[in-house]
Amino acid sequence: MAEVPGRGVAAPRPGRSCPADYGYGAAALRKVAPALQAETLYVAGGLYGNPQALEALLELAATEPGARLVFNGDFNWFDVDTEDFRAINTAVLGHFATRGNVETELAQPGQDAGCGCGYPDWVGDEDVARSNRIMERLRRTAAREPALQARLGALPMYAVALVGGERVAIVHGDADSLAGWGLSQESLAEEAGLDAARTGLAASTARVIASSHTCLPVMQSLRVAQGEVVLANNGAAGMPNFRGTRFGLATRISVHAPGAAQRALHGLCVAGLHVHAVPIAYDHATWESRFLAQWPPGSDAHLSYYARICDGPRYLQEQALRVATCGALA
Ligand SMILES: [Fe+2]
Repeated sequence: MAEVPGRGVAAPRPGRSCPADYGYGAAALRKVAPALQAETLYVAGGLYGNPQALEALLELAATEPGARLVFNGDFNWFDVDTEDFRAINTAVLGHFATRGNVETELAQPGQDAGCGCGYPDWVGDEDVARSNRIMERLRRTAAREPALQARLGALPMYAVALVGGERVAIVHGDADSLAGWGLSQESLAEEAGLDAARTGLAASTARVIASSHTCLPVMQSLRVAQGEVVLANNGAAGMPNFRGTRFGLATRISVHAPGAAQRALHGLCVAGLHVHAVPIAYDHATWESRFLAQWPPGSDAHLSYYARICDGPRYLQEQALRVATCGALA
C-alpha cells in the first residue's frame, strides 16, 4: 500500500495504481549510457500479441537495410494461445526490447497491481476490470513458458539510443514511469499536461522521446532547455489508431527522410532527425480470425477491443500531430 501524505495509507486499486518500482524518474534517462546506435530506428510499442502486425512490421523495417527495430513494451496482450505467445516473444526478443507493464506483470506480478496499466480516471471501471482479467488469463499462458517469462523480466524499463548523434529516449509510459500517462494525447491536450511533459523532457536531456502505452498516437514538438524536442507516442503497433482504419503504427526516427516504401504519415523534423508515424499494414482478416479464436464474443478482450480492431477508435489522424505554438513554448 502507498502512503499518501496527509491521507494515511491509500487502498490499492488494481489496474489504476502503479507499483512503486515502476517509477525511474526522468533524470535516469539523462544518466543512462546509449544502448544502441543507428541511422534509422523503428520504435514499436503495443504490438498486443498480433502476429500479423509483427510480420508486417518486420517487412516494414526490412525496407531499410541497417535500420534497427526496437519494441518498447506491451508486445503481449491478446496472445493467450501458447503457440502465439511463444512465437511473438521469441521473435521480439531477437530485437532490442524494453518491457511494458504487461511484460512486467507477466514476469514479476506486483501485489494488487492488476494489469499494471495505471489507468487514469477517464478510463471506465468496467474496462479496468476487464483488463485485470485479461492479464490473469495471460499470466496462465506465460506460466507455461518460464524461460520466456524470465527473459521478459530481465528487460530494461527504458533505454537511450543514439540517432545521428542525438539522444533518443525509449520509454513505455512517460519520462518518469513505466505506466505513466503523461505522454498521452489526453494529457497533452491540457496546458498542465504540456508543462509536465516539458519538465520531463528537459530533465531527460533527450532530443526525442519515443513512448507508447496509452493506446492513441500523438506527436508533439516542444521547446525546452535543450532546444526543440519531439515526443512521439506511436499509439498501438497491433491495433488500429484512427477512426475507420485497420493498420497499426510505429515511430520511425532517422537521419534520412522516409521514402515511398515507408508510406510515412505525419511527422516532424528536429535537429536533423526525421520523426514520423509509419503505418503497419497487417492482414486484418487473418488477425481477426486469430483474435476471435482466442477471445470469442462475450470474452473480456472482445468486449473491450473488438470494435476498435474492426473499425478503429474514434480518434482522427488530424488530431495526432501537434506543433509547438507560442503558447506551448517553455
Ligand atoms: Fe502499457
